[in-house]
Amino acid sequence: MRPADLPRRLLLGPGPSNVHPRVREALARPLVGHMDPTFFELLDGVQDSLRALFGTGHPLTLPISATGSAGMEACFVNLVEPGDEVLIGVAGVFGDRMAQVAARCGARVTRIEAELGTALDPDAMADAIGRIRPRVVALVHAETSTGVLQPIDRIAAASREAGALVILDCVTSLGGVTVAIDEWGVDAAYSATQKCLSCPPGLSPVSFSQRAVERAATRVTPVQSWYLDVNLLANYVGESRVYHHTAPVSAIFGLAEGLRLVEEEGMATRTERHRHAANLLIEGMGDLGFEPLVDAAVRLPSLTTLTLPEKVERGEADLRRRLLEFYNIEVGGGLGPLAGRIWRIGLMGENARVTNVEALLSALRRELG
Ligand SMILES: Cc1ncc(COP(=O)(O)O)c(C=O)c1O
Repeated sequence: MRPADLPRRLLLGPGPSNVHPRVREALARPLVGHMDPTFFELLDGVQDSLRALFGTGHPLTLPISATGSAGMEACFVNLVEPGDEVLIGVAGVFGDRMAQVAARCGARVTRIEAELGTALDPDAMADAIGRIRPRVVALVHAETSTGVLQPIDRIAAASREAGALVILDCVTSLGGVTVAIDEWGVDAAYSATQKCLSCPPGLSPVSFSQRAVERAATRVTPVQSWYLDVNLLANYVGESRVYHHTAPVSAIFGLAEGLRLVEEEGMATRTERHRHAANLLIEGMGDLGFEPLVDAAVRLPSLTTLTLPEKVERGEADLRRRLLEFYNIEVGGGLGPLAGRIWRIGLMGENARVTNVEALLSALRRELG
């Protein structure tokens, strides 16, 4: 099998989403070296655009050369030392992954859980922060396993008051809904390129506050990971331009173009486009008997979770396979405890379009009609 033999799919699952044609062209550009002054100019622009998108002035904002999970690890390995108290809000699979990563860093992890499909309770988080006095509090902004968009400000404020650093997962929110990490008081945030930025998987934008940079610089123990050590990475992306690893030049070309597309559209228009497409999806799927899992107040526009009508429940995996095979449309099943109970439909970045919603609805009408 060659890549040219693969089908063209409409990727409406939890990610990756389809890559914008302009990003594809950028990915195919001839290489320059990773120490070339023109590449550094491009990289500077990427960092500026990422700052704007994260809503931050943090100088240490960069694309980590690996997927979103590496961004998650970068935050924990730099900010957590063995024996640290770490509080994690667990409202789904990715909050749980954070807890596992923190435990591997040697943290004493406390989990505050939310029922699947609901947001974390800020009062429960604030109580735990007061009780445990953690050094780090971590939570997920857009929980891709449940479709919940978590309000951040109260939890981040309580963390800051207690002197804890805040880590935030923005993998399925960045570029699809507004992210404002400085306003919220978040110290370390990470995302991924394959969701609302319409780029392929492979990079993880991250941003570290000054407090986070200081924490990483004044650790008692060295950062467990050489590759993800921000003390070293800062010397490559910052002014000194010291070689660290060979930056994935083509992937950064793609990201530069993906970020340009976001800037041309403007986040206000883009957010509205995501919300509009999600609303149309929910309306159309409602007519077919699928119901939203999440209350409207905390529903994530870029990833909609739907409970299944009775006639779909037993054959849900088969129906998804038919969508893929006969219509070239990918949608996601439930993850973890929600497997077999929900569908996850992503309308992310370039894909958040009425035409894509209509394509899915018409395929489903034909299959279920
Ligand atoms: C919320 C969230 N966090 C982290 C990840 C992990 O990212 P990746 O699969 O790019 O490593 C994902 C992936 O879907 C995600 O949705």
